[in-house]
Amino acid sequence: MNLANNTVLLTGGASGIGLALAVRFLQAGSKVIICGRRADKLAEAQQRYPALNLRVCDVANAAERVELVRWATAEFPGLNVLVNNAGIQNRIQLADDSADWETRRQELVINVEAPMHLSTLLIPHLRRQAGAAIINVTSGLSFAPAAFVPIYSATKAALHSFTLSLRHQLAPTGIAVLEIVPPAVNTDLGGPGLHTFGVPVDAFADSVMARLASGEQEVGYGTSEEVRLASRAELDERFRMMNR
Ligand SMILES: NC(=O)c1ccc[n+]([C@@H]2O[C@H](COP(=O)([O-])OP(=O)(O)OC[C@H]3O[C@@H](n4cnc5c(N)ncnc54)[C@H](OP(=O)(O)O)[C@@H]3O)[C@@H](O)[C@H]2O)c1
Repeated sequence: MNLANNTVLLTGGASGIGLALAVRFLQAGSKVIICGRRADKLAEAQQRYPALNLRVCDVANAAERVELVRWATAEFPGLNVLVNNAGIQNRIQLADDSADWETRRQELVINVEAPMHLSTLLIPHLRRQAGAAIINVTSGLSFAPAAFVPIYSATKAALHSFTLSLRHQLAPTGIAVLEIVPPAVNTDLGGPGLHTFGVPVDAFADSVMARLASGEQEVGYGTSEEVRLASRAELDERFRMMNR
């Protein structure tokens, strides 16, 4: 895809991977709108990168998704790229879990339902735009789950599956459907300090954006590049190693 001259709506863009992607779109000459739940985090991002456009939105809420798309397409009629990046991750021991289901369901809603809904809401608008694209941020765990984040891993497998079907269905519309498959990246995912073992976010973002710019549709980095290309036997071995 061309990284320049787009108008990009990116969910969860105030921190981590989302902010790193947003900044690279800005630097390539695109307009970027980021959204998230925390107004202070969005404002902090805009202080560092004044060209960012902001919108407070909880993508867990279906009515807020509808309003986000209505607002964004009215304010930015040239909107041609959706990046479904917002996500949460919960460590859960299923045999000892006392959380109520509504709490647990949020991971499904934010990681799977929201990207599916936002994509379908925006298809009618995107199909009228040049260079339109939907970019889904999945995970290496889409391919081999980490058992300590069981619902999260399942949501990312679902989003990878949906991305394949969406790409197939949208091929005649001219809307490109792309997938970023991060490995563990050093962000605040799951809470501060839980991903310090991950790769640096800037090196990761530089690599995946360069590969999207060169025309690749599904891009990983490091271990997630290996895992997205692995055989079933290799995935079984990775599952065994990761969940020792
Ligand atoms: N870091 C990794 O190791 C890793 C690996 C594979 C995949 N990923 C994926 O990469 C994506 C970005 O995660 P990250 O690592 O950059 O973590 P992060 O720094 O925690 O970023 C997640 C972002 O999503 C936003 N968000 C969460 N729930 C939201 C909601 N209901 N509505 C709107 N925004 C919401 C958060 O902002 P608010 O809290 O202000 O809403 C935050 O800015 C996620 O989809 C994650 O699953 C990350």
